[in-house]
Amino acid sequence: MTTTLIKNGRIITATEDYVADIFVEGDQIKSIGADLPGQADRTIDARGKYVIPGGIDPHTHMELNVGAAISSDDFESGTIAAAHGGTTTIIDFVTQSRTGAMHAALDAWRAQAEKSVIDYGVHMIIANLPDDLLSEMDALIGEGITSFKMFTAYPDRLQLDDGTIFKAMTRAHTNGALVMVHAENGALIDYHIAKFLAEGKTTPNYHPLSRPHASEAEATHRVIALAELAGAPVYIVHVSSRYAMDEIRAARERGVRAFGETCPQYLALASEQYADGSFDGARFVCSPPIRERANQEPLWRALGVDVLQTLATDHCPFTTKQKELGRGNFTKIPNGVPGVENRMHIAYQGGVVQRGWSMNRFVQVTSTAAAKLFGLFPRKGTIAVGSDADIVLWDPARPYTIRAATQFTRVDYNPYEGTTIDGSPSRVIARGRVIFEDDKYLGKRGQGEFLRRGTGAVAV
Ligand code: URP
Ligand code: ZN
Ligand code: ZN
Repeated sequence: MTTTLIKNGRIITATEDYVADIFVEGDQIKSIGADLPGQADRTIDARGKYVIPGGIDPHTHMELNVGAAISSDDFESGTIAAAHGGTTTIIDFVTQSRTGAMHAALDAWRAQAEKSVIDYGVHMIIANLPDDLLSEMDALIGEGITSFKMFTAYPDRLQLDDGTIFKAMTRAHTNGALVMVHAENGALIDYHIAKFLAEGKTTPNYHPLSRPHASEAEATHRVIALAELAGAPVYIVHVSSRYAMDEIRAARERGVRAFGETCPQYLALASEQYADGSFDGARFVCSPPIRERANQEPLWRALGVDVLQTLATDHCPFTTKQKELGRGNFTKIPNGVPGVENRMHIAYQGGVVQRGWSMNRFVQVTSTAAAKLFGLFPRKGTIAVGSDADIVLWDPARPYTIRAATQFTRVDYNPYEGTTIDGSPSRVIARGRVIFEDDKYLGKRGQGEFLRRGTGAVAV
C-alpha cells in the first residue's frame, strides 16, 4: 500500500484547528500526531497551508441529457474540474422516467459515472410514484442511494402533486432517507411563460421574470408544511431567493428539520447578467434564476449562521453553442451553469476573505455538512483516523484567477471570469492519491468509486 506523510500542516475540520502531521496508508488516514516518525513513500511539506477535508459537492449534473442537449462535462472532465477546485466527492442525480421503475435509469447512469476520477454518489429523482414503486425506494436505500429529489415545477416532465410528495416523504423518513425538493411553483411559471411568449417576449431576460421570488418562496413554504406534517426532514436544493431562505429560517425556528443549500451563482452573480435583453444572458440561464444583487447578502448571511447548511453548485454546464438552442425562445435555452471547479474558490473568497468566516465554517459548508446530511460522515467530511484520505492543502498565499481559458471544466466560458481568489489548493489528494499538484492533473480516469451512502441525516 502506498504511504504518504503530510508534515506540519494546519489541520482544519469543522470544529478543530491545530498543527500536526498526517500519515496516510492506502485509501485512509492511518494516524495524526505531532512529529510523526516513520518512513513514507512520499512526504509532503504542508507548512503554512491549511489541511482541510476534500470538498463535497452534493448537487451536480454531469453529462445530463436534457433532450436537445447533453451537459458539456462528462464524469471524467467534470470530476477533474471538481478536484482542481478542491472537491473530492460529488453527488449527482439519476432521473426515473415518468413511466418506468427507478432502477431502469440507474444502470445507464452508473455506466457513465464509472469514468469519475473522484468518488461519487447519486440521488434518485422521483418522477412517478405509484404505490407499487414504494418498495423500490426501500431497495435503493439498501443500495446506498439514501436521498430522493422531487420537483414542484416542470408539470410536463417532473412535477409531482403534493400528495405524492407527502407519500414519498413519509416513506423516505420511515427508512431514514432524506427528501430533497426543487421548490418552484410550476403552474405559476407556466402561466408567465405562456403570457410572455404570446406577447413576443422571447429573449433570455424573460427567463428570470417568468420565475419570480414568490414562485420559489411559495413552493418552499408548501413543501416544508408537508414535511412538518410527515414529521420528516426536508432539504431544499439550490435556494436562490432570500424569501425562500426566510421560509427555511422560520421553519427551523419552530423546530422543523428543514435544510437548505445555495450555490455560487446565487451568492456571487446578479441579474444584471440578463438585463440588456441580449442573447449573452443565455449563458446565465439556470433555474431558479439568478436574482437581483440585493439578494446576495442575505444568502451569504444565512450560509454563515446555519440557516442554510451547504454550498452545492447545481453544476450543469452548456456551451455557448448549446445555449443557442434557445435563440428566439428563452424556454428552449438548456438550463444550467458551470460551478463545480469554483465552488470552494467562491466560498473562500466571499466567506473567509471578505466576510470573516472562520476556516472551520468554510470546511463545514463546503464538506462536513454535506457528509452528515447525505450519510457519508465520518468516512468523508473530516480529517480523522479511519476517514478516507480526501485531503486538500489549501494555500492562503497562492492566488488564483478564474479564467475559462485555463479551467478544466469543459465549457467555453466561466460566469466568474477574471475573479481573483486570494488562496487556492496547491495539492488535492483523493483516497490517498495525489490528483492535483499546483494545477497539474495527476489523476486517472475511473479511479473514483461509487459511494454507498448511509441513512439518518445527522443534524448539522
Ligand atoms: O438550471 C438548472 N438548475 N439545471 C439543472 C436541473 C435542476 O433543476 O437542478
Ligand atoms: Zn433542480
Ligand atoms: Zn440540479
